[in-house]
Amino acid sequence: MNSVRKSEQKLALRYTEVLQDYMNGAGEGALRQAYELGREAVIQELGILDMVAMHDEAAKIVVRQNKSFQENTLKQIKTMNAFLMESLSPFEITHRSYREANGALHRLNETLEEETKRIAHMLHDDATQLLAAVHIALADLMEDLPSDMSARVREVRGHLDQIEFQLRRISHELRPTVLDDLGLIPALEFLAEGISKRTALAIVTEGTTNGRLPASIETTIYRIVQEALMNAAKHARATHTMVEIAREPYLIHCAIRDNGCGFNVQETLAQKGQRGLGLITIRERLNAVGGSLQINSSAQRGTEMLVSIPLEG
Ligand SMILES: Nc1ncnc2c1ncn2[C@@H]1O[C@H](COP(=O)(O)OP(=O)(O)OP(=O)(O)O)[C@@H](O)[C@H]1O
Ligand SMILES: [Mg+2]
Repeated sequence: MNSVRKSEQKLALRYTEVLQDYMNGAGEGALRQAYELGREAVIQELGILDMVAMHDEAAKIVVRQNKSFQENTLKQIKTMNAFLMESLSPFEITHRSYREANGALHRLNETLEEETKRIAHMLHDDATQLLAAVHIALADLMEDLPSDMSARVREVRGHLDQIEFQLRRISHELRPTVLDDLGLIPALEFLAEGISKRTALAIVTEGTTNGRLPASIETTIYRIVQEALMNAAKHARATHTMVEIAREPYLIHCAIRDNGCGFNVQETLAQKGQRGLGLITIRERLNAVGGSLQINSSAQRGTEMLVSIPLEG
């Protein structure tokens, strides 16, 4: 018998003993022990259903061992329920803190999105306005310059045009209006096109969402793909990347695969952000929407990132 089963059985035995004491009038002291037993169950990672099954077994034993309980069953069941409720409170506390932490993550993500939007607008409006002012100044300057010099200034203006184009592109990718207006797939295609042009990484996007998804989920997937593609371009020395979206009735899947050099996933995740924040942020974003992440990577087969997010009702 493995040690997990053994410790579960020990817990069940103690549960039965303390329930017996409680039924025999041990009062508050036994309830305190019920709470402690509940905490131990949480630590052993038992679920609420396991607890209810354990209580059921214990209750049967206690009733079988005591004839007077059988005569007064309803009252005894009520008393035993009070004991069960106490042993379940640690579960309630754990779930409540989990819900609260999740809510906080959700709010943090929303704040980050707002901040990203602000930076995208600043980049788009302020930076391109400054560039326009430089353009005008250079155009003025060209009028006063001899023709060989003005050819060189024209060259500089050509570079400025490219910078302006890239700034606009990056600001759109930071917070693409296409994501709000048209949804995930067009936004991913827009993103892939931009990254492909800047990095020479070939990116194929495939699949469908079967209509719009909740905004928070669209944004989460967009940000994850953005990070995964940047990683493929920056670290993997990949030449090809594939982004696949697949929709089930209550689940959305996203897979990002590259043909790069791969990396040691466990070692990198264990370093908890010493190398960078991208993968950690992906996990936090997924936690906030109840999603899951699996990364498979090897030098021969590159890296694949598999994301699944539940969709409510
Ligand atoms: N697709 C990939 N191929 C190869 N190595 C990768 C890939 N994705 C991540 N890595 C490795 O994992 C490390 C951590 O990635 P992560 O995205 O968390 O940080 P980063 O990209 O280094 O920095 P940041 O994302 O904060 O700019 C990278 O430094 C890289 O070594
Ligand atoms: Mg990264």
